[in-house]
Amino acid sequence: FTDGPLAGRRVLITAGPTREPVDPVRFVGNRSSGRMGYAVAAAAAAAGARVCLVSGPVALPSPPGVERVAVETALEMHAAVMERVAQAEVFISTAAVADYRVAEPALEKIKKRADILELRLVRNPDILAEVAARPDAPFTVGFAAETGDLERHARAKLEAKGLDMIAANDVSAGRGFDAEENALEVLWPGGGTSLGRQPKTALARALVALVARRMEAAGRN
Ligand code: C5P
Repeated sequence: FTDGPLAGRRVLITAGPTREPVDPVRFVGNRSSGRMGYAVAAAAAAAGARVCLVSGPVALPSPPGVERVAVETALEMHAAVMERVAQAEVFISTAAVADYRVAEPALEKIKKRADILELRLVRNPDILAEVAARPDAPFTVGFAAETGDLERHARAKLEAKGLDMIAANDVSAGRGFDAEENALEVLWPGGGTSLGRQPKTALARALVALVARRMEAAGRN
């Protein structure tokens, strides 16, 4: 693995969902399978990178040659990323991080008594935005799952979070999440390209090649 467009680069990737505990046996989660992130990790490793994959709970094997750090909650993912980001030259955020966590998870299993049970949620930190805002930020790539007006929403996120690149996909009508195939609209400051519908493994290879090209174009050597 000394060859390839990302030869020797340290790449930090987040993948999968997070689980936000409600009580000791229950959580709030989402439908992310982790497939896109695992495919990106495999593609980056195949491109010569040294890959660390910070992953929420998924049913996928670790890609060969990739170091995996297992986390459950958004706060655990945040801590795992912040511990490692100073060493990374590239950060790719594919994880479906929960925007909110339960404010006060119950210490004992919640009994069914009340007809209405209310959960108070509080905002989780935006890991991607925090990484991008660092003075020593790596080349930072975000994902955006949108249900319409893909390019406009993705471009707004690219700018708001100060990213080097964003890969947007359409998740309306059951597409994107938990699927084998996907299509991506990839944008960067001043440009963009479309990666057509194809298996996530092929899409990941195309995205990694694009990251290597953009890093070179941006003089990030
Ligand atoms: O703003 P939005 O959640 O749509 O942005 C999605 C991007 O931000 C993804 O790359 C996701 O991994 C990242 N994200 C994050 N931390 C959060 C929420 C989203 O890193 N708390």
